[in-house]
Amino acid sequence: MTSNEHVIPFSLREENREQQFKQIWGEELDDVFSDVARYYDRANHVASLGLWNWLRNRFISSIDVQSGQKVLDVCAGTNAIGIALLSKQPDLHVHAMDRSKAMQRVGQESARKLGMHIESTIGDVHTLPFPDNHFEVVTLQYASRHLRIMDVCREIRRVLKPGGHFYHCDMLRPANKTVETCYYAYLRFCLNFTGLLFRSSTSAHGCKEYFIDALRMFYSADELSDMFRQVGFDEVSSRTVLARQKQAKKRSLHASK
Ligand SMILES: C[S@@+](CC[C@H](N)C(=O)[O-])C[C@H]1O[C@@H](n2cnc3c(N)ncnc32)[C@H](O)[C@@H]1O
Repeated sequence: MTSNEHVIPFSLREENREQQFKQIWGEELDDVFSDVARYYDRANHVASLGLWNWLRNRFISSIDVQSGQKVLDVCAGTNAIGIALLSKQPDLHVHAMDRSKAMQRVGQESARKLGMHIESTIGDVHTLPFPDNHFEVVTLQYASRHLRIMDVCREIRRVLKPGGHFYHCDMLRPANKTVETCYYAYLRFCLNFTGLLFRSSTSAHGCKEYFIDALRMFYSADELSDMFRQVGFDEVSSRTVLARQKQAKKRSLHASK
């Protein structure tokens, strides 16, 4: 990132991201997740050196849910968040939305095996097919780099009830250059290793560099917090999931409507 990017408006940076990744977002990513669905959870365990559940639980522990609330998990993938929230508060009404039928199929099967019910909608989260002021809580984990995130945040805010909360968790662009370089090297290694281990498809192999570029062009936690404020969220706060490590990459952000 150049220092100039600090003054470039988010709308322009969003346009740049869209221009750069239009084709991948429009077509290729679906093929990737269709293949990845069968090993997504296992690959994440390997890539996180066994910390996958622990990291997810750290995020879940920051989410305040009350009995009977309506929760929407956008880009729900294999329903890791929905299942964890229902384990924490079994009488929630959890709705999952994702574009990938294959990811949701795995997620629905996992929920069913645990005797849980998660409503599922297949579709693009840039347009949420829900009324205004509908959910108490919306969550988004590990997918914002694949989205026109500013537009999606506006949609999320629209479907949240007044006083509702949006919880976001992702690997954000590290602010420190050295950490950023090491981070991309580790990510590249993980993508290559898990690709070989789980025999990923040609489309998934072809998208490896995209996953790094998407992060390179994404936002730091401070920038993303500013964007949340700009779309109208109040009380935006962020914390590293690995709280003791100042340069840790996984960040959770919390914002209220
Ligand atoms: C890395 S997975 C994250 C899944 C899950 N949130 C988790 O934490 O494990 C990214 C998910 O985002 C979904 N996705 C990407 N772009 C999307 C879009 N425009 N609309 C709906 N889902 C999308 C993919 O299909 C995939 O399931």
